[in-house]
Amino acid sequence: MENQPKVNIAPAEGRLGILTPGMGAVATTFMAGVIATRKGIGLPIGSLTQMGTIRLGKRTEHRTPLIKDFVPLVDLENIYFGGWDIFKDDAYQSAMNCGVLEKELLNQIKPELEAIKPWKGVFNKDYVKKLDGDYIKTGGSKWDYAQMVMEDIQQFMDTNKIDRVVIVWCGSTEIYLKPEAVHQDIKSFEKGLKEDHPAIAPSMIYAYAALKMGIPFANGAPNLTVDIPAFYELAKETKTPLAGKDFKTGQTLMKTILAPGLKARLLGLAGWFSTNILGNRDGEVLDDPESFKTKEESKLSVLEQILQPELYPDLYKDFYHKVRINYYPPRGDNKEGWDNVDIFGWLGYPMQIKIDFLCRDSILAAPIVLDLALFMDLAKRCEFHGIQEWLSFYFKSPTTPPGLYPEHDLFIQHMKLKNTLRYIKGEEQITHLGADYYEFYR
Ligand SMILES: NC(=O)c1ccc[n+]([C@@H]2O[C@H](COP(=O)([O-])OP(=O)(O)OC[C@H]3O[C@@H](n4cnc5c(N)ncnc54)[C@H](O)[C@@H]3O)[C@@H](O)[C@H]2O)c1
Repeated sequence: MENQPKVNIAPAEGRLGILTPGMGAVATTFMAGVIATRKGIGLPIGSLTQMGTIRLGKRTEHRTPLIKDFVPLVDLENIYFGGWDIFKDDAYQSAMNCGVLEKELLNQIKPELEAIKPWKGVFNKDYVKKLDGDYIKTGGSKWDYAQMVMEDIQQFMDTNKIDRVVIVWCGSTEIYLKPEAVHQDIKSFEKGLKEDHPAIAPSMIYAYAALKMGIPFANGAPNLTVDIPAFYELAKETKTPLAGKDFKTGQTLMKTILAPGLKARLLGLAGWFSTNILGNRDGEVLDDPESFKTKEESKLSVLEQILQPELYPDLYKDFYHKVRINYYPPRGDNKEGWDNVDIFGWLGYPMQIKIDFLCRDSILAAPIVLDLALFMDLAKRCEFHGIQEWLSFYFKSPTTPPGLYPEHDLFIQHMKLKNTLRYIKGEEQITHLGADYYEFYR
C-alpha cells in the first residue's frame, strides 16, 4: 500500500527565482553550474537534490529513488537568477574575474550569464572593512533600503513571471556582531531600521525584506544576519523558512567528517591546528580581523560539540584548537587547507594525522547553494516556517532554536535531512535498527 504523505506539499510548479545578495565567486559558480547542467555540458556533482538517492523501507524492498523523484523539487529548467552586488559586473564578467571556472566553459554560456545583472547593493563599509564598492543604494535610511530591496524583488517577479523566490546570502563576511536589544523583537528591529541603528548590518536588511515578503532566506556566510529573535518572530508571522549559517565546505567539512570517526572509536584528541591559504576576494575580506572573528567563531564551535569533552574528559578535555586563514593572492579561489591533528590511543600513545586539502572553495559551495534553494522552496511549499534545522547538513554553524545546541556531525545531519524527507512523504524513518532485531540475534 502506498504511504500517505504526512504533510500537504504544494506542487513544485511554475518558476522559481533564486536571488543572491553577492554575485561573486560562489554565486556565479552556482549560476554557471546550473546553466551548464541544463545545457548538458556539465554534471551537478556534489548536489544531493540532483544526484542523491534515498532508501525507503527495508533493505529487502530495494526502493531507492532519486531524491528529486521522491519529493517534488523545482526542475532546473524553471530556475531564474537574480542578485545584488556592490560592483556592476554582470554574472559573466564577475565569473571571469573570479577565475573559478574556465573561460571556455563560461564562453559557452555567455549570453545567459550576461543577462544576470545585479541590482545595486545595500552596503556600508563599516561592516566589511576591506571592500570598496561604488554600485550601492544611496540616499535613504536602513528602512528605505529594505523597501528598495523589496521593490527589486517585486519587479523581478513581475518582469519574469516568477511564482516563488528564495534568497541565499552569498555576500562577503561582515564584521562580528552579537545579538542586542534591537534584535530581540520585530518592533525594536523596525524601529532600529528607521533610526539607522548601527547593530543592523546590510545582510539583515536583505533578510528583513525577504522574510517580510514571505521569501525563504538562507545565510551562506557566518554573519549574524537572520539568526536573531526578531527574525524568528517575523518568520513565524509570515510563515517563512529561514536557515544558516556559513556554508560547510573545505576544511570544516573535513573536520566534521573526521571528528565523528575519531570519537566513534574513542580516540583522544590533544590538538587540532588548521591553517589555510587562499587568494580570492573572500580571503581578502577575511584578512580584516573583524571579519575573521566572525569566521573564526563559526569554525571553532564544531569540534567542541562533536567531541563532547564534558562526557569524555579523559579523551577531549583541554584539546587545543586553532584556526588560521591567510590571504595569499597567487592561489586565487584554489585554497589549500592544512590540518595537523594530534591524537592519542591505547594507554595514551600519541599519533598524528596530516591533511593537506587542495580544495576549490566555490566548487564545493555551489551545489550547497542549489540544494539550499530547492529545499527551502520545498519547505515553504510544505508550510514549514522558522529555523530549518534539518538543513544543518549544509552549514558550518547551524542555526538552531534558542536553547538547543547545534548538531555538527555530518552523518547525523545527513540522517536528519533524509529522515525529514521521509517524514514529509509519510515514509518510515530509517534508524538502521530493524524491528525484528531481537529475534534476529537470538
Ligand atoms: N566558498 C566557500 O566555500 C564558502 C564557504 C562558506 C562561506 N562562504 C561565504 O560565502 C560568501 C561568498 O563567498 P565568495 O567566495 O563568493 O566571496 P566573493 O568575495 O567572491 O563574493 C562576495 C560578493 O559579495 C559582494 N558583496 C559584499 N557585500 C555586499 C552587500 N552588502 N550587498 C551585495 N553584495 C555584496 C561582493 O562585492 C562580492 O562580489 C562569503 O561571505 C564567504 O565567507 C564561502
